[in-house]
Amino acid sequence: MKNCVKFDMQEVGKNRLDPRSFYFPYSTADKAIKGDISANENYALLSGCDWDFAYFESELDMPESLSDIAYGATLPVPSCWQCYGYGQIQYTNVNYPIPFDPPHVPFENPVGVYRRKFQYSKKDGKQYLMFDGACSMYEVYINGKFVGMSKGSRLSAEFDVTDFLVNGENDIAVKLYTYSDATYLEDQDCFRYNGIFRDVYILSRPEDHVFDFFIHTKNDGTVNVDVDKDAKITVMSTDGSVIYGDKVEDPKLWNAETPNLYGLLIEYNGEFIFKKFGFCELAISEKQELLVNGTAVKLKGVNHHDSYPGKGYAVTDEDNMRDLLMMKQYGVNCVRTSHYPSRPRFTEMCDELGLYVVNECDIETHGVELAIKAHPDSDKRENIGYVLSGNPDWLPAYMDRMQRTLERDKNCTSIIMWSLGNESHFGENHRAMAKWVKERDPARFVHYQGTAAEIWFIPEGPEKDAAYHDKCVDICSEMYPYVKKSMYKWSYPNTIEEEGMNHHNDDRPYFLCEYAHSMGMGPGSMEENWELFYKYPRIIGGCVWEWADHAAILPDGEFGYGGDFGDFPNDNNFCCDGLVSPDRKPNIGLEILKKAIEPVKIQWKDEKAGVITVRNMLDFVDTTELFDITYEVACGEDVVTSGKLQLASVPAHGSADLTLTGLPTVTSEKCFVNFDVTYKNDTPYAEKGYLATKIQIPVATNIVVEAAEKSFAPASAEVKGRYVYVTSENFSATLDLVKASFTSIVKDGEEILHAPSRITAWRAPTDNDGNNVRRWNNDFIRNTSYATKSYEVKEENGKVIINLHGILAPKARTPLFYLDIEISVCGGNIATKVHGVRHEKNYVDQIPRFGFLFELKKEYEDMKYAAYGPSSSYIDMLAHTYYGVHRSTVTDEYVPMIKPQECANHYAADFAEFTNGTKTVRFDGNAFEFSALHYTPEELTDKKHRHELCESGSTVVIICYKNNGIGSNACGPRLPEKYKFNDRKFDFAFEINI
Ligand code: GAL
Ligand code: MG
Repeated sequence: MKNCVKFDMQEVGKNRLDPRSFYFPYSTADKAIKGDISANENYALLSGCDWDFAYFESELDMPESLSDIAYGATLPVPSCWQCYGYGQIQYTNVNYPIPFDPPHVPFENPVGVYRRKFQYSKKDGKQYLMFDGACSMYEVYINGKFVGMSKGSRLSAEFDVTDFLVNGENDIAVKLYTYSDATYLEDQDCFRYNGIFRDVYILSRPEDHVFDFFIHTKNDGTVNVDVDKDAKITVMSTDGSVIYGDKVEDPKLWNAETPNLYGLLIEYNGEFIFKKFGFCELAISEKQELLVNGTAVKLKGVNHHDSYPGKGYAVTDEDNMRDLLMMKQYGVNCVRTSHYPSRPRFTEMCDELGLYVVNECDIETHGVELAIKAHPDSDKRENIGYVLSGNPDWLPAYMDRMQRTLERDKNCTSIIMWSLGNESHFGENHRAMAKWVKERDPARFVHYQGTAAEIWFIPEGPEKDAAYHDKCVDICSEMYPYVKKSMYKWSYPNTIEEEGMNHHNDDRPYFLCEYAHSMGMGPGSMEENWELFYKYPRIIGGCVWEWADHAAILPDGEFGYGGDFGDFPNDNNFCCDGLVSPDRKPNIGLEILKKAIEPVKIQWKDEKAGVITVRNMLDFVDTTELFDITYEVACGEDVVTSGKLQLASVPAHGSADLTLTGLPTVTSEKCFVNFDVTYKNDTPYAEKGYLATKIQIPVATNIVVEAAEKSFAPASAEVKGRYVYVTSENFSATLDLVKASFTSIVKDGEEILHAPSRITAWRAPTDNDGNNVRRWNNDFIRNTSYATKSYEVKEENGKVIINLHGILAPKARTPLFYLDIEISVCGGNIATKVHGVRHEKNYVDQIPRFGFLFELKKEYEDMKYAAYGPSSSYIDMLAHTYYGVHRSTVTDEYVPMIKPQECANHYAADFAEFTNGTKTVRFDGNAFEFSALHYTPEELTDKKHRHELCESGSTVVIICYKNNGIGSNACGPRLPEKYKFNDRKFDFAFEINI
């Protein structure tokens, strides 16, 4: 019987060296300090070019011997082969891509074989071959001989190849399996790619050399280096210009705001290793705060995957650096390497730029849950830990992965927590990992969210209340909890507020390794999260899910997601849930986060006296060192006064009061003070003048509006069948009485409507509308329309007044609302008043919206409005915008999310006007909501990708009484009750002036 390769979960590698910290040995101190790898003659990069490549659907298709392979193609190394047309592009979240039969994998297991011929001149001593990352299991051959095997896709694997290399031409071959037993441990939520996706290189070293070192520091300047040889250790500045010896007197400490680093030079037997490090002591306070050098910090974090469209996992230094710089620009101070260690340079960059790192082990076994527990007939209380995480057969793999994670990055100062992995349930293997981490690196914290995951499966009651995080972790970490019990109709256990109040009386901090799922439009409630994070010392912050949308490239060059590639199983667009787009353009979520974690907050202390309080939200740096704060007092479009705040000092965590003079008391429009907080000087991530945040506070003025006599030409009406024809001087309008729909509005002989107006309750579902969509569809909400039951048309004081009584209802369901509508029309003015009463038997939770949809001619492109803008704003998503008079174009209003959905709403509008260059159509009202786009809500609903959208050929203006809140229910709490559009009764009025 011929056997395919055996996938033995106990065999985590063959001939691999022990894991060690990431470093490059150089031949001189100078070269080591400069760190220019291209000038390192001990280093030979094998990647960075095309390798020969052969792809086999199954191992059975391969020739017996590697030497018989005819390499018909080439493939770049590093790369993911799916990005070059091999194998299946697949996006799956929880579901495994293979049948669930651990540790086995199907015969249909494509194998890619790589080969490269290269010249090498062997020096005396040792030669080591390093792989930074490849997926899944791979075997390495040099000059036809088997060197070794490794698993653990995002972990380094080093082999001693001294006896394999020859002088002159050498041949390296790598046989890489799509799946292996390791696939069961790498069920992270992302596109599933294969290939050698990180660097491959050879290091040439003396026979006797330093293998590994571990830098331990104390804030008194002590540096202890645990090194396996009697090496010479010198502490110096990062450029080597200042030598400190073995200790730094009065060191400048490292934190994310002032990432002060020093250099450590290790010299041994002709080799020089240089590593930058910082002084940073971590502790937990009695109030369960996270102390960095004795100061309580809040983690303003994001979750980061290595992904880029067209590259998959094979991202570069530049890609990592761009992400990290952007994080810094937006105020982020923490990054979780979800759900595996990033590239080795990543954490070094975090040291340099200043970001706290939660470094996560490359383990996720989420799919066990769907394979076993989620079955409708399964026992939901079954602890599935026995399958992998509690199964001793898998212990070696768990330990191996943890050790390789920690050992590689242990000298990076930015790492504050070691995470045991993600969503792998909980078992003894975790306890063993945690114990080992604690022993190996007691200075940092052990993190794993899964220690409490089981709580979700315990039925309501005392057992659930008592269940809590296992003691093997130092941090109580959770994802997507509800915010406060009082915000919801149903009660949810362990809300953030209860954790803040420490209901379990635990001595550990509480951390949200994931919150604010940033999928599509949203997330809402960001400010409410942060209010609690700041309020409770025990809540040390959290990481937004997630940094970037993931996408793969479709044949036409557009972004595709799960299911677009014939992939099964797939999870649709659940991979498009980032703060930035796949190509790193800020999504709206990034603006929302930036505002919530702004470095400065300003509030009235005494509004009457004009006294404000400026609060520094940073943990270490004085506001005045980093920022200038200028302000404008704005009343409508007028700037009443402006200035710059003269602040002597606002220490970290502190505040300063200041008096603003010249504030108006009487204005003709709403009045606000708008502050711009900008960078004073260039920083490594932001240029001088870059806007760190914008803050608005209202000025309670007396608003006195000069009653401008509006005079409109009188109008008269004629009713013919279902239509009312209203005529006035240079103006006419036709209303369809049956639908309360204007079929024509003509001013100065010009038709302004592209299509009849309509009353609508529909919005294109957002990703965060989550479960609502099923209910909305069930209730036929999209097809809701207005139908008149009785009407009256009269002429009064030169106006035509049309009274309509009817219902807003879907077919086959109870009406949403009974509506009384009064429309009065005179020359150039149409005033609408609505009184709505919810049908007593209508149970729809969260009506998407109630509004009047007007399709103006598409030439009405330029717009100006007074409302929350310039970005989309919703009742629970406001803080990133500010009230003011904004100008825009209808084209620019559209928010290009990969999957089209509701967007471009503006909250609390007082007017919105649209011009075609000669004529202006203006909507006036009092705190209405509106949007204007060149797409109908139906078009945004029906298209799966943004590139499929067809413009309506019109300007679609929806004037709303209300638009339902946004929330973050795509993967998070339900929408709080106060943001739901569930009114039983309402009154709404607006005017159109042309
Ligand atoms: C979490 C998980 C993430 C991601 C997210 C949903 O449960 O840890 O990897 O799947 O949900 O987008
Ligand atoms: Mg998962």
